Amino acid sequence: MLRLVHRAEEFVPARELELQEPFVRTAHELIHGRSGAGNDFLGWLHLASEFDQVELRHIEEAAARIRATSDILVAIGIGGSYLGARAALQFNGHAFADLLPRGEKPLTVLFAGNNISPGYLTDLLQVLDTGEVSVNVISKSGTTTEPALAFRFLKEYMEKRYGKAGAAKRIYATTDRSKGALRTLATQEGYETFVIPDDVGGRFSVLTPVGLLPLAAGGVDVRALLGGATEAEKALARPTIAENPAYAYAALRSILLQKGKGVEMLVSYEPALHYFAEWWKQLFGESEGKDHKGLFPGSADFSTDLHSLGQFIQDGSRVMFETVVRVAQPRGSLTVGELAGDADGLNYLTGKSVQSVNDAAMEATMLAHTAGGVPQIQLEIADMTERSLGYAFYFFEKACALSGYLLGVNPFDQPGVEAYKTNMFAILGKPGYEAQTAALAKSRDR
Ligand code: PA5
Repeated sequence: MLRLVHRAEEFVPARELELQEPFVRTAHELIHGRSGAGNDFLGWLHLASEFDQVELRHIEEAAARIRATSDILVAIGIGGSYLGARAALQFNGHAFADLLPRGEKPLTVLFAGNNISPGYLTDLLQVLDTGEVSVNVISKSGTTTEPALAFRFLKEYMEKRYGKAGAAKRIYATTDRSKGALRTLATQEGYETFVIPDDVGGRFSVLTPVGLLPLAAGGVDVRALLGGATEAEKALARPTIAENPAYAYAALRSILLQKGKGVEMLVSYEPALHYFAEWWKQLFGESEGKDHKGLFPGSADFSTDLHSLGQFIQDGSRVMFETVVRVAQPRGSLTVGELAGDADGLNYLTGKSVQSVNDAAMEATMLAHTAGGVPQIQLEIADMTERSLGYAFYFFEKACALSGYLLGVNPFDQPGVEAYKTNMFAILGKPGYEAQTAALAKSRDR
């Protein structure tokens, strides 16, 4: 369902990879023996195979209710509380779903709370009047400013439109079992709630109600998603690089970092993977970028970005390697026809599938980038089904955990995210941050 096809062999000889085996085995034991740093956040490891069936039915029932009563679901959340759902809706959905004729059109899922733009929020509140609305507010901590602020506006909108009791029936809260302002608010207002397990961190939470409720509402087959992840759980439980492609990928990243390649670009020739790459960036960036270590995770959509970033990748600073994600069987099968007169000069492609042209672009680019000193890892996702995506989510989560331990960091915390928050609260004058506000004022005066 997901294969490691090319492993940068031009830059990493097989013996170098083999030398990583003992380190990989140790890191594997830290994960499976639950003895590494952050081991109280390993809930994602068997989440799919052990998913509570009562909870799954609860999610499906709520999703069916949302679909029956709404045209639009606003999913409010940031980071791990939105990227997974956004990735899956894009990967498994129609590229222009909102323009499909009624009837064929699934429920529209719109996102909020992932920025603080007044323009975005104003526009969102304006379009909500075009249909019936439900809201899913998602925050593990229940205290994150961006989603809390967006929800304040959305709550007001919903209450004005549906009345307090009517709004409460259309608002679903996904949060911690007992802690946080969102839990308190949900209890106070009587919202239907979904629990994010204590042992699953935000960026590992796509296969909890965080991702599953908006996905089920948006028409994604969440059972197949969990099925794919369950399959990955079994296939990727082996302890060696030779047997476990997620570990081979992690070991390759580690070797390439040691060789001075400090930037990893996740690239794909399938635009439906755009938000998957955003999800992947958070997963690896927040898990590894600490203690002044780690690879910087970037992404590009090819061939689009070959006409912008392509020059730099081919010819700029030699700091990066690429992980190319190919979809073996994409949606749609178009064949190039013949044009009388060949005015556009494309008749040499007659009879070829568009996929084969896309593959030619990929092969050509991989050859050119390899020649230009950019190592190429290639992964292949079988198709664009929920099963394959579930497998891919788990593949990268497992690779990320192992990678973090190989690097010598705790892959499950995110202390660096707090620094900007403290400054922001100090600037805005949040109660409890008086000392920081004073310190900031002092430094500004200097
Ligand atoms: O991975 C993480 O834990 C974070 O990036 C969170 O997903 C993000 O900060 C959102 O947090 P919360 O769900 O608590 O609002």
